[in-house]
Amino acid sequence: MFVASTYSKKELFSNIEPDLVIFHSNELVTMNTKYGAPRIGEDMSELAIINDGAIAVKDDRIVFIGTTDELISKFEFGKIPTKIDATNKLVTPGLVDPHTHIIFEGSRENELSMKLEGKTYIEILKLGGGILKTVHETRKAPLEKLVQNGTKILDRMISYGTTTIETKSGYGLTTESEIKQLEAIQILNEEHPIDIIPTFLGAHAIPPEYNEKTDKYVDLIISEMIPKIAKEGLAKFCDVFCEKGIFSIKQTRKILKTAIRYGLEPQIHIDEIVDTNGALLASELRAIQASHLLKSNDEGLKAMAETGVIATLLPATPFCLMLDEYAPAKKMIDLGVPVALATDLNPNCWTESMQMVIALACYHMKLSPAEALTASTINSACAIQKEDEIGSLEIGKKADLLIFDVPNHHFLPYHFGVNLVSKVIKNGKIVVDNRLST
Ligand code: NIG
Ligand code: FE
Repeated sequence: MFVASTYSKKELFSNIEPDLVIFHSNELVTMNTKYGAPRIGEDMSELAIINDGAIAVKDDRIVFIGTTDELISKFEFGKIPTKIDATNKLVTPGLVDPHTHIIFEGSRENELSMKLEGKTYIEILKLGGGILKTVHETRKAPLEKLVQNGTKILDRMISYGTTTIETKSGYGLTTESEIKQLEAIQILNEEHPIDIIPTFLGAHAIPPEYNEKTDKYVDLIISEMIPKIAKEGLAKFCDVFCEKGIFSIKQTRKILKTAIRYGLEPQIHIDEIVDTNGALLASELRAIQASHLLKSNDEGLKAMAETGVIATLLPATPFCLMLDEYAPAKKMIDLGVPVALATDLNPNCWTESMQMVIALACYHMKLSPAEALTASTINSACAIQKEDEIGSLEIGKKADLLIFDVPNHHFLPYHFGVNLVSKVIKNGKIVVDNRLST
């Protein structure tokens, strides 16, 4: 079945004259997937690399992928308008960041010194800082300001090679201001080259006016926010910060079951600070992705492996919280849990760079460079249900791809803390040209 559809796509695109080609790539990581599902276990190391690779693009689609010799024998080279020589360079699919919170006002750099003094994330939140400080400022911000802030973040993301993201509301916590955040996402998705998948995260914190009345706030989410947001088509996913002292397992189940009834796909923040059996809940609800999972128990992880829930790991968060502990990524891979990576960009953990996340995943969670790249492309595309369009370089898929100014994928975590991107091609167009050594 899969072979037949690939063949027909190849047929469909075989006679098209490309308008852009990349050739002589030292390593062309295609991430070509014969699975139609996230890579798990040992398959996470399989990058499907073509040496001296070439790729051809027409409009926003990939129309050819193979070696440079094959490219040259197939097309009339002289006629192709844009030709990029990728000698000594690495070409990969565009990076996909499947868990971010980019719509907010203000910043929280003051919390860095609190963290240095030893205050925990929850202690800062209980002091009215953390998410609640950002909620206070985001509620007051006009829509235009949120769009302006988001644009700045997206510009930086694309320059670091991110071509698709998921992002969430969650700093409004009233129906009106949650909708304002989702509208900002909608505007950004229309205006910016980065594709954005919207998530409703009304259950991100207990708003101050509902202090000690969490169930009442859950009722508001269930009876008003979800129906309205679903009706207006403002979100694809619904997320909950399920954690001790935030939203309980019972409340999370209630919220996500309602979301599912309204056609939203479930995802969860779980087991970040304590194990509340979030991984079991993620599996019970067939969440598409579950994030953090620092404390998840083995039973829960096994259940996630059985039900195919993607573990989206966010190593920049424990890094920013100065924790010694990171999610047990290798154990998850051994158990067959599909692993994805994301920045979790938010005012507590502010990085636009998936390259930084890849480095953290290797140095702190012991992923290999290949596993980290898989987790940032095809598996992260699966985490937002976009694997049919992006995440790998295959004929017929979207031409979202990167040229890195390094000879192979091992360099991505190895040469760290700088931007290694030379060019970003989004929807078949060069949108970033860093002109490093090209
Ligand atoms: O995924 N943990 C909950 N939410 C975000 C942090 C949001 C914030 O601190 O503003 C996270 O880490
Ligand atoms: Fe988050």
